[in-house]
Amino acid sequence: MYSDKVMDHFNNPRNVGSLEDANGIGEVGNARCGDIMKMYIKVKDNIITDVRFKTFGCGAAIATSSMATEMVKGKTLEEALRISNKAVTEALDGLPPAKMHCSVLAEEAVHAAIADYKARLEQKENE
Ligand code: FES
Repeated sequence: MYSDKVMDHFNNPRNVGSLEDANGIGEVGNARCGDIMKMYIKVKDNIITDVRFKTFGCGAAIATSSMATEMVKGKTLEEALRISNKAVTEALDGLPPAKMHCSVLAEEAVHAAIADYKARLEQKENE
């Protein structure tokens, strides 16, 4: 049912945890199942230099968030925003159709963390 890559990222998720010096944090929830994902990013000179996540959710959500963190690390904010849940699931060699909604959580969490970073930046500029 699940690809080897999904199983690998589920069993050994990358970048799990939180970041003490994160300057962007996004938390999103999946209304369908109630699962929650929190994404921490550290941005320097418009580049995501570090990222961590915590997912209180299913295996597919854990695998997609793990893969998403690997894909956004080292990217500019614009590049990270262009990484879709489809790209993340393709990088995992696919997900069963019934689990596709789980991958949306990872994309939304990245977007929420970047939005938080931008809001903090704006606030700093206005101070
Ligand atoms: Fe909730 Fe997968 S079932 S994110």
